[in-house]
Amino acid sequence: MVSKINKPRIFSGVQPSGNLHIGNYLGAIIQFVALQDEYDCVFCVVDLHAITVPQDPDSLRKRIIEVARFFLAAGIDPAKSIIFQQSDVSAHAELSWILNTVARMSDLNKMTQFKDKAGISEDDSKFLERMKVKIFDSPPGATIPKAAKNFYEKASNVSVGLFDYPVLMAADILLYDTEVVPVGDDQLQHVELTRDLAKRFNHQFGEVFKIPEVKILKSGARIMALDDPTKKMSKSAESENSRIELLDSPEKAAKKIMRATTDSDSIVKLDYKNKPGISNLLTIHSLLSGKDIKELENEFAGKGYGDFKKAVAEEVKIFLTAFQAKYNKIDDNDVRRILEDGAKRAEPIAKKTLQKVKERIGIN
Ligand code: TRP
Repeated sequence: MVSKINKPRIFSGVQPSGNLHIGNYLGAIIQFVALQDEYDCVFCVVDLHAITVPQDPDSLRKRIIEVARFFLAAGIDPAKSIIFQQSDVSAHAELSWILNTVARMSDLNKMTQFKDKAGISEDDSKFLERMKVKIFDSPPGATIPKAAKNFYEKASNVSVGLFDYPVLMAADILLYDTEVVPVGDDQLQHVELTRDLAKRFNHQFGEVFKIPEVKILKSGARIMALDDPTKKMSKSAESENSRIELLDSPEKAAKKIMRATTDSDSIVKLDYKNKPGISNLLTIHSLLSGKDIKELENEFAGKGYGDFKKAVAEEVKIFLTAFQAKYNKIDDNDVRRILEDGAKRAEPIAKKTLQKVKERIGIN
């Protein structure tokens, strides 16, 4: 193994929840592969994050292995990068608890992900922000606006874990002296919180944490749902037709592309605003085929959507066939061994940071 002493460290995580799809692949996993030589990479299957919403134990067990296997099939090389399961390294939960004493309710209240997951609308929370409604301490009998009521009802059913999700994420990142965190733009807010918590801790107890930078992953991070191209492709959306899953049969996937929602004119052109469906298909084609968008626009000038969709479907088929051939060759027992080995390599790094933290706060 090459010495990695001088390479900056990267940390990123993928949740073993829902059905990993081509958006996860293009938007994250394949970009991780490209970072392996330049950086000292740690990739984590974040199972403790996954359980912030209900999971079926058997599916969760299966998915943990599946995500690691996706990493390997995509080309993440365990000889270069550490791949491990979050709950195997107990320092994540421990540091998370300590950071809970540094984070404030108001930091977490600003986060949007738990509100999305709890079904709290953006309108309601924006309204509340404007009104600065303090719903948690309104006097009894006070008239509470409807938005505040909606918020309060939904927010009271959010698990403490879901609310606290970003603090665990901060622990993940800070344990490894991470310099760069590659994530989709939806995670930017969490990395900013991580930086704030690190600075606050350092300020209070002396320099311990390195302040990480965020690296927003390229456009693949915004692969949209096939049936509603105004929404991001999602692991958990009800309709299977909204996403191409990595283990979909190539034929099934091709059918989903043919069925994808488009607009009613017939010009193949990148225009996210007016032609979100076609723009999404162009992006998928371009990322899979390596052709740039301009080239594709020219290639399909004057041809209808049918021909274009067939071409996208073909690229998807080629990709899935090749990807699944690699995936199927990997043995689950090897995956387990790689995760075990990964945890053994991750643990001493994480423990060292945790030890320093404990010393600083006086609990070592
Ligand atoms: N929250 C991230 C997501 O859903 C996953 C994640 C957990 C993560 N811990 C992390 C990403 C640390 C980067 C670094 O995409």
